[in-house]
Amino acid sequence: MSLLLPGLDDYLLSVLPPRDAVLARMEAEAARRSIPIVGPAVGRLLAQYARLLGARRVFELGSAIGYSTLWLARAVGEGGHVFFTDGSQANADEAGGYLAEAGVADRVTLLVGDALTRLRETEGEFDLIFNDVDKEGYPDVARQAVPRLRTGGLLITDNVLWDGWLRQPSCEDDVETAAIRAFNRMLYENPDLETTIVPLRDGLAIARKVR
Ligand SMILES: C[S@@+](CC[C@H](N)C(=O)[O-])C[C@H]1O[C@@H](n2cnc3c(N)ncnc32)[C@H](O)[C@@H]1O
Repeated sequence: MSLLLPGLDDYLLSVLPPRDAVLARMEAEAARRSIPIVGPAVGRLLAQYARLLGARRVFELGSAIGYSTLWLARAVGEGGHVFFTDGSQANADEAGGYLAEAGVADRVTLLVGDALTRLRETEGEFDLIFNDVDKEGYPDVARQAVPRLRTGGLLITDNVLWDGWLRQPSCEDDVETAAIRAFNRMLYENPDLETTIVPLRDGLAIARKVR
C-alpha cells in the first residue's frame, strides 16, 4: 500500500534504521498473516509526533497486534500511558505478549470491543489519538474523538488517501471511500482543527486541535 512513485517507497524503507527484535518480529508476523499494520515509516512518524507533543496520554482506535501501540508506548516514556483498542481478544492477547517482551506492558491498557465505545468509557483528555479503525467508522471518529483531545493535541489518522481510490469516479458508491472523503472534509472544515494530509504510505491526516 503506497501512493508513491514505484521505487520511492522501497527507498524510504531502505533508509530507515533497523528495528529492534520485537518490532522486527511483529513486522514479519504481519507480513506472513497479512495484518495491515502501519509499518516502520509511519510508526516512526507516530513516535516523532508523540515526542514533539510530550504526549503522556495516548488513545489508539484500532490496534490489531499492537505494532503502532509499541511505537507510541515507547514514545510516551515512563509515566506515560497508551490505551490499546481492538475488537478481537486474540489480537489483544498477542499484543500483550509483544508489549511485555518490549518492557512497556505497564504503560499500556488493553481494551477489547468497539473502539469508540471504549473511548467513551475512558475518562480524561488525550494528547494524541491515533485512528486506524474500519473506514466506515471515520466520520464518527471525527465527531467523537476531537472533543477528547486537549487543546494542542493531535488526531492522527491512517489511510486517508485510501490507496488512491479517492480520485476514482468508479468508487463514487463505495462505502469506505465515501466515509474517508467525508472524514477528510470534516477535518478541513472544522475551525477548531488545523489539518494537513501527509502522503506517506497510504496517507496520514494530522489534525491539531487549536482551541
Ligand atoms: C488497520 S488494523 C490496525 C493496525 C495497527 N494500528 C497497527 O498499525 O499496528 C485495524 C484493527 O482495528 C480493528 N478494528 C477495526 N474497526 C474497529 C472498531 N470499530 N473497534 C475496534 N477495533 C476495530 C480491526 O479488527 C483491526 O485489528
